[in-house]
Amino acid sequence: MSLFDLSPKATRRALYGRDSQLKTLIRLVDQRRWALILGPRMVGKTSLAKSAAAQSRRPSVYVNLWGANGTAGMLKALLDGINASKPLVKRLLDAFRRVEGVNVAGTGITLTPRPRPLRTVSDLVKVIGEEAGRTVVILDEVQELASVSGALLKVLGNVFNTHPDIVFVFTGSYFGVLRTLLEPPADSPLFGRSPARIQLEPFDRETSIGFLERGFQEYRLRSNREAIGSLVDRSLDGIPGWLTLYGNNVAVHRMTPEVAERATVQEAKTVARSELVHFLEPRDALTFWAALRKLTTSTSWTELREALSAKRGSPMNDHSVGTVIRALRDANLIAEWNHQYSIRDPMIRAFVRESSRAPG
Ligand SMILES: Nc1ncnc2c1ncn2[C@@H]1O[C@H](COP(=O)(O)OP(=O)(O)O)[C@@H](O)[C@H]1O
Ligand SMILES: [Mg+2]
Repeated sequence: MSLFDLSPKATRRALYGRDSQLKTLIRLVDQRRWALILGPRMVGKTSLAKSAAAQSRRPSVYVNLWGANGTAGMLKALLDGINASKPLVKRLLDAFRRVEGVNVAGTGITLTPRPRPLRTVSDLVKVIGEEAGRTVVILDEVQELASVSGALLKVLGNVFNTHPDIVFVFTGSYFGVLRTLLEPPADSPLFGRSPARIQLEPFDRETSIGFLERGFQEYRLRSNREAIGSLVDRSLDGIPGWLTLYGNNVAVHRMTPEVAERATVQEAKTVARSELVHFLEPRDALTFWAALRKLTTSTSWTELREALSAKRGSPMNDHSVGTVIRALRDANLIAEWNHQYSIRDPMIRAFVRESSRAPG
């Protein structure tokens, strides 16, 4: 697999940098500790989870929850994950026959017309726990299950108590909705067992440059260190996903550096847009959009309160401002620095700056 391959990396060899995070994650899996990988989109969460699972040499199930809705979505995603794990299906096919809500068909399992999702999820996990030995289950983008977090926590609490051989690795891009998972309250089934947290940050400048240099070497393309350096400073900002896309544009699609940069920024803005639509959808878009527009530059609490008050035509109280700020921070959209707030991702910042109206 080349460094500029666009799909998530899935082996240690394919993964650039991230040595200490990989080591930590493998150690946790070996110790049967659960882990949660946190970070913005495109930073490499899926790649880290998959590479660690492969490196641990244990069977694994990869469950992609992006866009999954409610318990039915969780079940569907789990089923897809199980079916994609060929060795596991092969070994457990007979055992899956016992599970109410699924049918065994050929080389995989399918859903019966009217499954009871939560029950079936529990039973599938139970079979894996009983028959597969130590298994890594990756729940990718677990914030998508926020609306059913109570149900999810119950399943997880149950697994934790009865099937210690199942190790969950979660990833998430929003912290807020993961709070019940990370810092479970006293009445939660996971109280006292919060997963270890691995925070993934963008690459620093040197690592970003090294990444592109090595990628170009793989294609026997010459690269200019200085040009790469200013490109990293100007647009790519250490996000592995954008570095990969840029490299792919040049090495695979043979774009010139200028065209490749423009195409990468364009794609990054499209992703930024979809992330903002996802964020604004369940919220008061007018207020949040006004806040985001203000937060394209460094802004203090008071300045934000004034801007929002002006937008609404009536004074906004500190409590409401706090709610807005917390929601934006929980979604990883803004960061605080010296009591100043601003949008952290340059692509999102650029998108917000260039759009006069809220997307969606
Ligand atoms: N450490 C890394 N080494 C090589 N490629 C990476 C690394 N991290 C991410 N990538 C690449 O960046 C893109 C986004 O990675 P992904 O794991 O899907 O991020 P996330 O799950 O955080 O959105 C993919 O094309 C992936 O191959
Ligand atoms: Mg991912």
